[in-house]
Amino acid sequence: SDRMVVAVDGPSGSGKSSVCRAAAARLGAAYLDTGAMYRAATWYCVQQNVALRDEDAVAVAVEELPLNISTDPQHQIITVGETDVTAEIRAPQISEKVSDVATNRKARQVLIGAQRRIIDQAGFIVAEGRDITTVVAPDAQVRVLLTASAEARLRRRGAQLGDGQSAEALKRQVLDRDRRDSATTNFTEAADGVAVLDSSELTFDETVDSLIGRVESVQ
Ligand code: C5P
Repeated sequence: SDRMVVAVDGPSGSGKSSVCRAAAARLGAAYLDTGAMYRAATWYCVQQNVALRDEDAVAVAVEELPLNISTDPQHQIITVGETDVTAEIRAPQISEKVSDVATNRKARQVLIGAQRRIIDQAGFIVAEGRDITTVVAPDAQVRVLLTASAEARLRRRGAQLGDGQSAEALKRQVLDRDRRDSATTNFTEAADGVAVLDSSELTFDETVDSLIGRVESVQ
């Protein structure tokens, strides 16, 4: 059939977003960045003045979240209502709060439902996040855990360092977020049937080639 789901999980800084976007573009597949959905949900809670520690209030906000996310790998646009939040959801203020939404069980169920609908509609899609291979699409034809050593991840993040952000602060942020995220999702070990792709010693292009190779081998 035409249906093909490529599920990719991994920690922050593993390069999964750029690798998956490039692979989807080359394969002519759709692309879903589920982390962007958690980020947009967090942006919305902040904008609505919802106390992030208030689990029920966060769940209600996420249920009514007017989210629109494009699945075109060449043209990533995320809007909440009328607002284009594509750039804003990458701000450190969102990164540091996103785990509060991601650890909210009801909010997760709502976002997981939305992710499954997007995947079903797309047919051929590369979807990436923390729980795609295990929870969102465990029946995906290709299931990959994209890992990289802590050093490689921090090196790549460091290359994206903005002004006023020290390498030490960045390291603390990345490792703290991984620790908080591990409370709800296991993205450090591959589940049964999930292949590990370790990109520590690979270039960006080699990593994309390896992912595409796995897709072509089951096509
Ligand atoms: O991938 P990215 O770093 O943009 O993800 C942002 C956050 O969204 C993660 O730190 C995690 O808290 C949450 N997330 C999640 N499950 C996913 C994708 C992202 O909990 N499938």
